[in-house]
Amino acid sequence: MEISNRLTKLPSQFFATLVKKVAVAVSEGRDVINLGQGNPDQPTPKHIVQALQKAVENPDTHKYSPFRGTDEFKQAAADFYKREYNVDLDPDSEIAVLFGTKIGLVELPLALMNEGDLFLLPDPGYPDYLSGAGIANVTYDTMPLHSEHGFLPDYKELTDKQKEKAKLLYLNYPNNPTGATASLAFFDETVQLAKCNNIGIVHDFAYGAIGFDGDKPVSFMQAEGAKEVGIELYTLSKTYNMAGWRVGFAVGNAKMIEAINLLQDHLFVSIFPALQHAAATALSSSQECVDELVNLYEGRRNTLINECNRIGWKVNAPKGSFFAWLPIPEGFQSEEFADYLLAKADVAVAAGNGFGTFGEGYVRIGLLVDEGRIIEAISRIEKLNIFKP
Ligand SMILES: Cc1ncc(COP(=O)(O)O)c(C=O)c1O
Repeated sequence: MEISNRLTKLPSQFFATLVKKVAVAVSEGRDVINLGQGNPDQPTPKHIVQALQKAVENPDTHKYSPFRGTDEFKQAAADFYKREYNVDLDPDSEIAVLFGTKIGLVELPLALMNEGDLFLLPDPGYPDYLSGAGIANVTYDTMPLHSEHGFLPDYKELTDKQKEKAKLLYLNYPNNPTGATASLAFFDETVQLAKCNNIGIVHDFAYGAIGFDGDKPVSFMQAEGAKEVGIELYTLSKTYNMAGWRVGFAVGNAKMIEAINLLQDHLFVSIFPALQHAAATALSSSQECVDELVNLYEGRRNTLINECNRIGWKVNAPKGSFFAWLPIPEGFQSEEFADYLLAKADVAVAAGNGFGTFGEGYVRIGLLVDEGRIIEAISRIEKLNIFKP
């Protein structure tokens, strides 16, 4: 049986190769410090686990969920946006429940785009945006993110033709992989671009909870008129260490939300009700666990940046997310440098070109191991004598 043309055209999963390389090194008995992945290392807070345990004992939760998710979860999501961002949302028409945001990001081009429409994606960017383009079989152009422009797209670089054909535009701040954050002024500019050119905006707010130095990341929904032009995707994966639970939601523009819901009516019967109850508990309870998590990542970030600077690796501190985006030394390509660190120092990092053409020249490091391991990783790199203190 041949697989469909649609599947043969999908982009290759760049990071599957990294996982394999690390697995080979580990199977050889090497003590690999894996800074290459994006999987939160801390457990889900106890009160959320207990909420699931209790809910699962109630047979009512064993039935099908309502197609579009439970009222309790959607109301909790609306209350969360009101409390955290002062944004008003109607739980029925302006919130869609998602099995994690990866699925939403892949569903959106399928739900909203037609032949001839153009999809605008950031480069570097989260690789699964390309999976969405591939599955929907739509054309995309990339918007380069340069360090001189704070890793924000420069809308002045878009051509008239791109603006005319664009139907959807994806953004992601705090940003994976660069760790950059966006200001409300940038989101205001985005709303203007969208209104003038009739472009739907999708803001991937996966790292919305993780801002450093006391700066709370801005929600796209806080920009005036955002709801008229776009939506925001929020996941519980990072905020509450619930990556394996697969739960998130989209908020904002009612037409875009309806398109997701319509597609999902045909694909799913929403998430296990007990899990939706636990997710509602996460959003509605004390957020002290989130503050503790952000402090933990900030401590790791400070250690990493101090250690890099100590050995002469000149790097900038990320402002949010749990990633650091580090320029590689001259004479290397990103993938070559990542392979070199794995071979010579048993340190795994993600090569920047895996996130797009403009990721070349960088590697991404995840702040997902404890500070002792970060110090150990950088001291192993120090011994390679590539940097001059
Ligand atoms: C930028 C970005 N968006 C979305 C996701 C997907 O998160 P989830 O599907 O767990 O909600 C990730 C996960 O790593 C991510 O890094």
